[in-house]
Amino acid sequence: MTVNPTSIHQLLARRASGFSLEQPFYVSPEIYALDLEHIFYREWLYAVPACQLARSGSYVTLRVGAYEVIIVRSRDGEVRAFHNSCRHRGSLICKARQGQVAKLVCPYHQWTYELDGKLIWANDMGPDFDASKYGLKPVNLRNLDGLIYICLSDTPPDFQTFAQLARPYLEVHDLKDAKVAFTSTIIEKGNWKLVWENNRECYHCSSNHPALCRSFPLDPEVAGVQADGGVSKKLQVHFDRCEAAGTPAQFVLAGDGQYRLARMPLQEKALSYTMDGKAAVSRHLGRVAPPDAGTLLMFHYPSTWNHFLPDHSLTFRVMPISPTETEVTTTWLVHKDAVEGVDYDLKRLTEVWIATNDEDREIVETNQQGILSPAYVPGPYSPAQESGVMQFADWYA
Ligand code: FES
Ligand SMILES: [Fe+2]
Repeated sequence: MTVNPTSIHQLLARRASGFSLEQPFYVSPEIYALDLEHIFYREWLYAVPACQLARSGSYVTLRVGAYEVIIVRSRDGEVRAFHNSCRHRGSLICKARQGQVAKLVCPYHQWTYELDGKLIWANDMGPDFDASKYGLKPVNLRNLDGLIYICLSDTPPDFQTFAQLARPYLEVHDLKDAKVAFTSTIIEKGNWKLVWENNRECYHCSSNHPALCRSFPLDPEVAGVQADGGVSKKLQVHFDRCEAAGTPAQFVLAGDGQYRLARMPLQEKALSYTMDGKAAVSRHLGRVAPPDAGTLLMFHYPSTWNHFLPDHSLTFRVMPISPTETEVTTTWLVHKDAVEGVDYDLKRLTEVWIATNDEDREIVETNQQGILSPAYVPGPYSPAQESGVMQFADWYA
């Protein structure tokens, strides 16, 4: 089926709420292009933790659809983002995923840019050449308490409302004092919406995630959203207990459904995502109390979900690669002074989510293969178990 902007409106108009989407949404190159144009090229996207850019000249690159972006820490300490395309004849400037440079030097003819994007050297361009006109094109960037978000649009949507709401929740995690303990990048052979749908429910957890289920509760309310927007008494008691200890915890969902924050309890006696449920890091990142505060769940569509724990934090970045491929990058953050082998064991810190991510990859790929069958038709979400998936589908539509 060829899908044009008119037919996508027809497909959306006939979408049955409470059912999975029709096949084109998960396979069509035209809908994929529209998803990029209307969502990924317009919205604020989580990119990296600021601590990954440890010093002046530290950079990372990322690809968002057709765009190539450099994020770099400048000499004044600010983190800035630029289009990774030279203003001479367009070459990529940084080819590596991350690195350390004194200046941004184009590999083609060595045009040289300062870390704030100014062009400072271009050989033999003639007496009338005005270097000030050829600085790198900036990309909008915000640093939300140690989490770097970018937006490719020239007219970015409001970020402030989300930032103001999220900041108190994040502050107690002291992400400015973090370092990256480990990063994993995997490619899931599934549409980016299938990656999200899978993330937004734990209906699949008991039969697929033996390691995660040692600490993550199967209560559907933890992953989902209550139909009436309220929360159960049991959860409210947990939120109140955290808040009494100075740790923001209440469930909040954006009016348009784009983001949600809530500090959810883990299973009884579990303090972190480890095989024995005990903390993974003895030198804690943050000042979170009580010790069993659980996990601050924060998602922000379309690019990130996160788990902020009393001892460490985890960020996840979702980036579409093609209609049926999605890159998922997971970053484990610990206190900058925590020493591997002394304060934490890397395997113990990472094994639960490395296993869980791989199990989710397998689930998403199997889901995608079944959807590719001409026999696929949308099926009903479980109202009790998949409220979060419905919430995602409604936001998307
Ligand atoms: S394309 Fe970058 S210096 Fe020529
Ligand atoms: Fe999962």
